[in-house]
Amino acid sequence: MNAVLDVETAPAAAAQGRVRGFFGGAREIDDAPLVVRGRLPDWLRGTLLLDTPAVWELPHGALRHWFDGYAMWHALRLGDGAPRYRSRFAASESFRRSVERGRPVTGEFGSPNPSGLIARLRTPPVTDNPVVVMSRVGDRWFGVSETPTLTFFDPHTLATEERLVLSRPDDAVHLMSAHGFTLEDGSYLNVGTELGGTCTMKLLHLRPGQTRPDVLARLRMPKLGYTHAFALAPGHAIVWECALRLDAVALRFSKRSYAECFAWKPRGGSAVHAVSLDDGAVATWRIPPMMAFHATQAYGDGADLVLEIAVYDDGSVFGDLMLDRRRADLPLRARLRHVRYRLRRGRADAEPEPMPGPAIELQQVHPARIGQARARVAWGTGLGEGGRFADRTLRVDLDSGAATEYRRPDAVHLEPLFVPRPGGQADDDGVLLVPTLAAADDDGVVAVVDAHTMKAVAELVAPQVLPFGFHAAFVPARPGH
Ligand SMILES: [Fe+2]
Repeated sequence: MNAVLDVETAPAAAAQGRVRGFFGGAREIDDAPLVVRGRLPDWLRGTLLLDTPAVWELPHGALRHWFDGYAMWHALRLGDGAPRYRSRFAASESFRRSVERGRPVTGEFGSPNPSGLIARLRTPPVTDNPVVVMSRVGDRWFGVSETPTLTFFDPHTLATEERLVLSRPDDAVHLMSAHGFTLEDGSYLNVGTELGGTCTMKLLHLRPGQTRPDVLARLRMPKLGYTHAFALAPGHAIVWECALRLDAVALRFSKRSYAECFAWKPRGGSAVHAVSLDDGAVATWRIPPMMAFHATQAYGDGADLVLEIAVYDDGSVFGDLMLDRRRADLPLRARLRHVRYRLRRGRADAEPEPMPGPAIELQQVHPARIGQARARVAWGTGLGEGGRFADRTLRVDLDSGAATEYRRPDAVHLEPLFVPRPGGQADDDGVLLVPTLAAADDDGVVAVVDAHTMKAVAELVAPQVLPFGFHAAFVPARPGH
């Protein structure tokens, strides 16, 4: 299952400059040294996992969107002797069957679905390409996209293991948020949706060792909003409804891509739901129409709940992230804002509150604050002048809006994964691990940035260009290793 796959792709060498991470060509490398420039913190011991799209072109067909590429896992092992690098394709069914045929055989996020009608009647046309997020249930790691298939893998060898589909004939889940949460007891919380005439969103809770999740709550909605993530506040899942609404019939029966089955419907507005983790009760507030991938955080403030979120004013960001626009390094047209909504009990509308400071995407806060307490510092990827894509890493003080930045010249800056220093207390006591690629770089560079000062303390140079991915994870070394 995990033999090196013989994949014919467009080589990254064909590309120039900082956008090379949007091209295929990354190889499976079993074990190679990482070059370290500078000095790594002594306490930084563990494995940085990156999950990236790595193949968009096959001999007889190509994928079209950044989010579509077939997944490759990368492991950067630190603190146990000399740092080492390993990469391996995720052996998803979508990838294996597409490589066999030499063309994509399943619809991906932004690429049309080539399945015939009979195949669609048999199974909903969803991919299992685990390219977006890596999560954990118990001590088992898996990759996932926006469908309910968990693809387990070994975080050390990167071998693909079994798949688990969180859907059953008597309680179906067709789509699922890419981002879930691993709770303190190792259980995994996420929101999935059963599509139909009316859609039912389900709050799923999977305990370690379970193969079937419990459903903690159900929300019915006539038209599902695009759902990439949700937020966790004390005792509550905070779920937002984007005004980018799904045509579920088109997803099942048309050849349109998943992304093209969503349409911007501002007249219905958007909403935020607070779902009680205790009893499944749901409270709802209206907000102006918006599109969002990621919340920064949610927290309680007296009797209120508060949601901080990066929003777009329309649905144009899907188009901005098409592969041809990213490879050409065109500016983003979608406007990004950082917004704070106060959710007061008994009110129908959420109250927007001024949120100073620049907008950020791929936001990070201290992981110990998530679902527990308010973080006062966040980090994220920032846009350059005129909407230049991901050209800096920002630290934002969430009270004052004061921002400081880390920036490599003429480089793409991806998600700045925050790794807290063991025993540290402050919201920003730790480092950011930032995958970057500058026009002048030969290979991918992961910057290790002091999360308080925003100064780089070290750089890790990989043995190849690292394709541009979305989300990372850090697996701390076990004591004694
Ligand atoms: Fe995401």
